[in-house]
Amino acid sequence: MKGIPLTALLVIITFAGCGKKEENMPEKYSIIPKPVELVMARGNFLIDSKTELTVYPLSDEITRVAGFLAGMLRKSASVPLPVSEGAREGRNRIVMVIDTAASDSPEGYTLLVTGRNIVLKSPTPSGLFRGVQTIRQLLPPEAETEGGLTAGVAAEVPSCYISDYPRFSYRGMHLDVCRHFFTVDEVKRYIDILALHKFNTFHWHLTDDQGWRIEIKKYPELTVTGSQRKETLIGHGGRPPFTYDGTPHGGYYTQEQAREIVKYAAERYITVIPEIEMPGHAVAAIASYPWLSCTGNRLNVQTRWGVFDDVFCAGRDTVFAFLEDVLDEVADIFPSDYIHIGGDECPKVRWENCPACQKRIREEGLEDERELQSWFVTRMEKYLNSKGKRIIGWDEILEGGLAPEATVMSWRGINGGIEAARMGHDAIMTPTSFAYLDYYQGEPGGEPLAIGGYVPLEKVYSFEPLPAELTPDEQKHILGFQGNLWTEYISTISHLEYMAFPRAFAVAETGWTPALKKDFEEFLSRLEVLKKRYDLMKINYFKGDYRDLRGQAE
Ligand code: ACM
Ligand code: ZN
Repeated sequence: MKGIPLTALLVIITFAGCGKKEENMPEKYSIIPKPVELVMARGNFLIDSKTELTVYPLSDEITRVAGFLAGMLRKSASVPLPVSEGAREGRNRIVMVIDTAASDSPEGYTLLVTGRNIVLKSPTPSGLFRGVQTIRQLLPPEAETEGGLTAGVAAEVPSCYISDYPRFSYRGMHLDVCRHFFTVDEVKRYIDILALHKFNTFHWHLTDDQGWRIEIKKYPELTVTGSQRKETLIGHGGRPPFTYDGTPHGGYYTQEQAREIVKYAAERYITVIPEIEMPGHAVAAIASYPWLSCTGNRLNVQTRWGVFDDVFCAGRDTVFAFLEDVLDEVADIFPSDYIHIGGDECPKVRWENCPACQKRIREEGLEDERELQSWFVTRMEKYLNSKGKRIIGWDEILEGGLAPEATVMSWRGINGGIEAARMGHDAIMTPTSFAYLDYYQGEPGGEPLAIGGYVPLEKVYSFEPLPAELTPDEQKHILGFQGNLWTEYISTISHLEYMAFPRAFAVAETGWTPALKKDFEEFLSRLEVLKKRYDLMKINYFKGDYRDLRGQAE
């Protein structure tokens, strides 16, 4: 994007003139997602007890970004690495500078590593943070461990010039904490691993039939009752008879904890988008407050998986007052522009038989229950817009008419995204057959129980988020790519990591790296090198066959 600086050229010329290449040299440059432009050079920058880290301009935020690198090196290499203000590209320095000329992209950066110093530049702190993740991956994997760079492994960064920026503005991973609850520390660890690979969005699925996981102060029953279920289905719950484990399962995040996670993610330049499901997937809420449903019947928090008939009543104004109150608190906790309102898998049978819902259909001049769903979502959208928020919904929100400002998350294939983009709406691609990381990643016979499907790493990697049938202007509405992790069959953090990784890394590269620079075989060779880092980080990633064994990935 920007020209290569003279110093970089000198390094490259030096390298080119050297004749003999260092052995396995490209291995040292195993970065995921692959940078847009990477020029390798001979030599290293060695971090020692005299190395200083300077930032310019000095601010708390940039000091914090620099602190991620300094903290890691202090621990692993036992170097003091003081951080102070300075832009001078002096000897034995790591220099981090805000420079609007460094990139046209807010998350872009340039990185120049020579034997003399490391210079990282970006127009924004978030770009510096992305650049720090690159430096981190250029360091030996032992940099991830306490004392790892003190016992015979040098704290060095291989010389190079990198100019890098993301292809898409939205690069997300989702996590369902309703089907199984994950602790604050587990969520933070997930965010940490996403940050290493330059994700910028964490979609946090907080409410569903099997559990309501976010404290709402005005409605305490949501967490007293709605966050707990009596037991959980054993095995694959297609049809009766169902068997259950007899073990209560539950948990929720206090508002304070949720804010802590938002802050933790924000420090890693990851936006948390909360999802509050409506009108369907509402059983845990209804179990807490039966007046939220059409029948008013008392229900239990669901103990098995699926789609359930009891949904929020669309006829009662008290339901909307409740949802608005909930969203008031949610909007206050989560500073993201977006709130995800779900919108998927909402059966209409209760509405068909509910006098209040039928009255609503008549009074609003709606055609049918599908239009009632659209009316419901549009009403909630208006409310959130009035609070300065925008909505995302699963692609079912297209049915019966799309809310005026809504962004569509296309999961049942890519057609929802195509339709939304053609209507001038933004869309995020997350189709089941490429992006559902709860699907099997190896042949089902040898794998722990999963929901179904077959989405090996190669398949995830092969996804192209921009549909060829869209015009360039329409393509601009495709904001990016997201991997989804539903947890019906995932109850531990170690299993969660096994399902998420390395497939999420393929999502990361597809969201960041230009399509023409992607190459699955070469991605695999970088992954092989990074595995040592993941091992030292104790990430439980899938180690089976990464190829699509059922044929050519599309
Ligand atoms: C979904 O997977 N129900 C969005
Ligand atoms: Zn109703």
